[in-house]
Amino acid sequence: MKNIVILISGRGSNLEALIAARDAGNLPVNIAAVISNRPEAMGLETAQKAGIAAHFINHKAFSSREAFDAALAECIDDFSPDLVVLAGFMRILSEGFVRHYEGRLMNIHPSLLPSFPGLHTHQRALEEGVRIHGCTVHFVTPTLDHGPVIIQAAVPVLESDSEDSLSARVLRQEHLIYPQAVRWFAEDKLTLENGRVRLAAELADHAVLISPEIR
Ligand code: GAR
Repeated sequence: MKNIVILISGRGSNLEALIAARDAGNLPVNIAAVISNRPEAMGLETAQKAGIAAHFINHKAFSSREAFDAALAECIDDFSPDLVVLAGFMRILSEGFVRHYEGRLMNIHPSLLPSFPGLHTHQRALEEGVRIHGCTVHFVTPTLDHGPVIIQAAVPVLESDSEDSLSARVLRQEHLIYPQAVRWFAEDKLTLENGRVRLAAELADHAVLISPEIR
């Protein structure tokens, strides 16, 4: 079974979705550790309650991004992960860190990349007047919120939407597609070819989940 390490900075709802999928028998991985750069991250408590090693590394205690990333990598590598999963880890990562985990570093982002990288994605989607919004799981490259796409989910943007209602609709999809992407990795159903993700033949038509859900 593959080992994964999950990095968080806050609420940890994607972490919860991954733990729930594992507990339901839908995610055949060993969650070896959860690491946060913020001590108040609720996800740390979630990890502890689930019996998963939980670590906090304070980025403010390091003089440079590279120094923090080196300490983070040391902590991660103690668990020999096959995959590092960024689940709301709100730090820009140095190029050296990203290269070290090339092909085994995944991120979830709350937009249909390449639209809306960065912060405030839901507010920006509303301001732009897009009719479809969503979320993306991708392998990480040194460019922020960029990299080979693994799976995306789309949701409608409604006239009545606020930032809160839209983000809640997208988040429900995040909780579906992240465990799915990690499962494909765990089952060796993903390969990277020339910077693009190739899925096992039986999955090729399932990497987008168009959500008709309106709530
Ligand atoms: C999620 O919406 C995730 O997509 C986003 O942070 C949130 C974390 O929520 N990540 C990014 O914006 C990365 N660029 P969570 O802590 O409840 O999983």
